Amino acid sequence: MKNLIETRNLVCGYGKLPVVRDLNITVGEGEVVCLLGANGAGKTTTLLTIAGALPALSGELDVMGAPVTSAKAHEIARRGLGIVPEGRGLFYRLTVAENLRLRRHRQSTVEIEDVLGYFPALRNLMGRRSGLLSGGEQQMLALAGALVADPKVVMLDEMSLGLAPIIVEQLLPTVRDIADKRGMAVLLVEQHVLAALNVADRGYVLAHGSVVAEGSSAELRKDAELLEASYLGDEKALEAAEAADLI
Ligand SMILES: Nc1ncnc2c1ncn2[C@@H]1O[C@H](COP(=O)(O)OP(=O)(O)OP(=O)(O)O)[C@@H](O)[C@H]1O
Ligand SMILES: [Mg+2]
Repeated sequence: MKNLIETRNLVCGYGKLPVVRDLNITVGEGEVVCLLGANGAGKTTTLLTIAGALPALSGELDVMGAPVTSAKAHEIARRGLGIVPEGRGLFYRLTVAENLRLRRHRQSTVEIEDVLGYFPALRNLMGRRSGLLSGGEQQMLALAGALVADPKVVMLDEMSLGLAPIIVEQLLPTVRDIADKRGMAVLLVEQHVLAALNVADRGYVLAHGSVVAEGSSAELRKDAELLEASYLGDEKALEAAEAADLI
């Protein structure tokens, strides 16, 4: 399997201040991988660094098999990496249709009609300003917008923030389905840890600024303490990972 994202000893942070150290993660073609960790663990910082929105402090980053450690965000996007950032990243004054048209570039092989197949609820809302959609509808639009750009790999930062569990349980399998059908890779940051592990192949748990546990979804799911700790914070996550023999 080809790695679409690969980091080697990547250090992510702000200015000179490292937030995540020596990160070694991979996301392969068609894989759904989740990045777990408590609030402030560095998940968003990691995604922004991979997307090229934050410069890496050190280490190496490959996207689509090419080194992009010092590449600009738009260059990395052009290689086929998409991101749905925390806070959705929509143009709220524009309509649903305008948002989708803006995200679809000329080389994209994905038609707006194709993504509406995944999110039929958006079909009747095409003329509505996206600022007037419900939270769940905005989330669907954010995801649909990322998909019409025809990404080879997409990073989703708390896609389900603020959504009802029932919507989360529909959205996440949709993501899995798209990954399976298109061979797209997904790096998923999700507070709904169990729901995320239900669709993911593998996961990494961040605490204390580094990966404290990694394994298949089944391995991570077995360890309830570790999962709980990945919401609760550093000390607990580290203890639980040690106890579970995952480091
Ligand atoms: N612009 C910034 N400048 C300096 N420090 C920052 C900046 N943004 C975030 N941080 C710090 O970096 C650390 C990691 O933040 P990050 O947003 O990556 O966490 P997260 O894992 O995404 O958390 P959450 O689950 O709350 O979204 C936190 O201590 C945060 O305060
Ligand atoms: Mg975050």
